[in-house]
Amino acid sequence: MLLEPHHSVTLLLILVAAGRHCVAGDDGLQFTYNGFAGANLTLDGAAIEPNGLLMLTNGSLQTKGQAFHPSPLPFRTGTAPNATRSFSTTFVFAIYGQYSDLSSHGMAFFVSASREVLSTALPGQFLGLLNSTDSSNQSARIFAVEFDTLLNAEFRDINSNHVGIDLDSLISRNSSDAGYYDDGTGRFQNLSLISREAMQVWVDYDGTTTEITVTMVPLGMARPKKPLLQTTVDLSDVMQSTAYVGFSSATGVLSTRNFVVGWSFALDGPAPALDISALPALPRAWPKPRSKVLEIVLPIASATLVFAVGIGIYIVVQRRLRYSELREEWEEAFGPHRFSYKELFHATKGFSDKNLLGAGGFGNVYRGKLSKPDREVAVKRVSHESRQGMKEFIAEVASIGRLRHRNLVPLLGYCRRKGELLLVYHYMPNGSLDKYLYDASAPILDWHQRFHIIRGVAAGLLYIHEDWEQVVIHRDVKASNVLLDSEMNGRLGDFGLARLYDHGVDARTTHVVGTMGYLAPELGHTGKATPSTDVFAFGAFLLEITCGRRPIEQNERNNRIVLVDWVIEQWRKGMILDVVDTRIPNGFSKDKVSLVLRLALLCSHPLANGRPTMRQVMQYLDGDLVLPDLSSAYLSFTTLERVYDGDFKQNMMPYTSSMSIGDVSELSGGR
Ligand SMILES: *[C@@H]1O[C@H](CO)[C@@H](O)[C@H](O)[C@H]1NC(C)=O
Ligand SMILES: *[C@@H]1O[C@H](CO)[C@@H](O)[C@H](O)[C@H]1NC(C)=O
Ligand SMILES: *[C@@H]1O[C@H](CO)[C@@H](O)[C@H](O)[C@H]1NC(C)=O
Ligand SMILES: *[C@@H]1O[C@H](CO)[C@@H](O)[C@H](O)[C@H]1NC(C)=O
Ligand SMILES: *[C@@H]1O[C@H](CO)[C@@H](O)[C@H](O)[C@H]1NC(C)=O
Ligand SMILES: *[C@@H]1O[C@H](CO)[C@@H](O)[C@H](O)[C@H]1NC(C)=O
Ligand SMILES: *[C@@H]1O[C@H](CO)[C@@H](O)[C@H](O)[C@H]1NC(C)=O
Repeated sequence: MLLEPHHSVTLLLILVAAGRHCVAGDDGLQFTYNGFAGANLTLDGAAIEPNGLLMLTNGSLQTKGQAFHPSPLPFRTGTAPNATRSFSTTFVFAIYGQYSDLSSHGMAFFVSASREVLSTALPGQFLGLLNSTDSSNQSARIFAVEFDTLLNAEFRDINSNHVGIDLDSLISRNSSDAGYYDDGTGRFQNLSLISREAMQVWVDYDGTTTEITVTMVPLGMARPKKPLLQTTVDLSDVMQSTAYVGFSSATGVLSTRNFVVGWSFALDGPAPALDISALPALPRAWPKPRSKVLEIVLPIASATLVFAVGIGIYIVVQRRLRYSELREEWEEAFGPHRFSYKELFHATKGFSDKNLLGAGGFGNVYRGKLSKPDREVAVKRVSHESRQGMKEFIAEVASIGRLRHRNLVPLLGYCRRKGELLLVYHYMPNGSLDKYLYDASAPILDWHQRFHIIRGVAAGLLYIHEDWEQVVIHRDVKASNVLLDSEMNGRLGDFGLARLYDHGVDARTTHVVGTMGYLAPELGHTGKATPSTDVFAFGAFLLEITCGRRPIEQNERNNRIVLVDWVIEQWRKGMILDVVDTRIPNGFSKDKVSLVLRLALLCSHPLANGRPTMRQVMQYLDGDLVLPDLSSAYLSFTTLERVYDGDFKQNMMPYTSSMSIGDVSELSGGR
């Protein structure tokens, strides 16, 4: 007959299971345990390990462990009602001390009339069987075969490695060295109980003769003919009707693990043979104790780990925060101009004070060094809370990024964070022009240099106003926004920044941003920056560089002096050259200086259409066009003094050197 494959597999599994754990034939008269996995035993303190070992003691001190067949066995019923029935048992055990060369606690096989005897047994001593040395004055209710590893004078022990037959007392009825008699030679062979070696024991009791024999061998050896112990003990008191059979052990001060590996038992007949190959293996070594070092180190280590992980997360979060940026969808288009904050952070050494180039109107400027590509940059940090106008501004930045002119500071790109905008420019080694004009320690620029710078700035402005594909208005032309490259060419920087703060054209809320003294009067009315407002500022710049004075200064008596008004006054008096910066070395062309000053006044014309365009400015500077005559009537239309005094409300904006002109309706009403 052919079995289907999975049937044969199932059958095989059942056979294997039966072979390994085998609780075969527990009919109340006999049973066999080849290993105890799944065995139905009553355990008290003992345990069945996952691999099928019955562990009586687990190594803890001052404990007891008992394991016994769950139901009491009928020692008095059946064929011999008068006598106690014969029984036969065999088992395999091992005594496992913590140190193989030191003593351990032993164990016992027992037959007990009641569970009470077992439950009152004291832990830690008397093999877990009794609660006193000798209970023989009570009615005898417990029989035991002890495997004793301690020499205890109290129990009249013969030595520390003996087997004894006990009845109600640990004082043995008979005892012997642990060992066996060799069948061949008949000689006694010592066995060490504490050797951790598995040993097989047979205990046989003849109910008729009351003879009991105990035989033991190392596991695997056949049962010798001559028993180790032979004596007569009447067990009729122990076995008055039924009795429990099982194993017991106790550990006092010596850490010991005692195992039973297999067990079979039979009434009225020989114990079934154990299948030695099916017995579970003993542990190879004492379980590694949780060392004190570990007990101390482990919590510290885990605490340290938790701490380290915490720190790590903190650092990562900090880094994320530190390098966090603001990035929106619309910025995709400006991708190439976008710098990562991390890159800029490292380039400027974390925006360190050492790298600070200056504090401008809109924020600090830091010197930095990019690694890829290797170039020096100036990074301007502009604080900016509002998103308003940002998109337009970035768009302008991106387009300005494409502006290339020798008189413009190249803008390389930008980066945006929460409340902050970073603009990346080429680094200009000679700094900004205002330093040369106002800083006493800086070298003095001669007229030739100044004129070269003026012409450069004019060319730059002309380029953004007229020569590029779209009109770009600078909005903040002034000496501090003119930077000098290595060849002392003037270059305009800070394009359009003012725009960031210039919210719309609604008359009631218009704010005009720029720098006082450079602001064209019409800005107060319209709020709208035009090329012409840049020309006005350029006029103020011309006066600034020629006179070496700021457009608006306080004199000693705290009176405000508007530079352009003073120059007009001097011009009316025919003493225009008196306004020229006295530090300029002699030898300059008076005609050229006069031309620049008159051009400045023309650019500063209060009416937008009275001012030249940048193209005309270039032509005047180059002498290609003759400067028109400045009639006094033309200029007396109004003076800036009046405009500034009466019409501009001087509320400082949150950043330096920029003015806000509020409530414009006031202005537009009167004049
Ligand atoms: C041993 O067993 C006892 C209970 O019987 C338990 O309290 C103790 O923790 C165990 N010891 C080990 C080492 O498993
Ligand atoms: C264990 O043995 C007891 C007593 O014989 C019995 O009542 C119980 O049902 C058995 N348990 C199992 C799981 O076999
Ligand atoms: C068996 O019982 C009889 C009478 O009850 C008694 O005389 C005899 O001694 C008993 N035998 C044993 C071995 O106890
Ligand atoms: C010892 O056990 C017996 C029962 O086996 C009990 O009667 C006795 O009171 C116990 N003694 C102690 C000291 O626990
Ligand atoms: C048992 O009884 C005997 C005699 O009656 C007595 O000498 C002995 O001390 C008793 N043993 C115990 C442990 O009570
Ligand atoms: C057996 O052990 C006992 C004590 O443990 C010792 O005195 C004796 O010499 C040993 N015998 C042999 C044959 O090893
Ligand atoms: C003790 O056992 C030994 C060895 O089997 C035996 O020779 C001796 O007679 C026994 N003693 C008693 C009192 O039974």
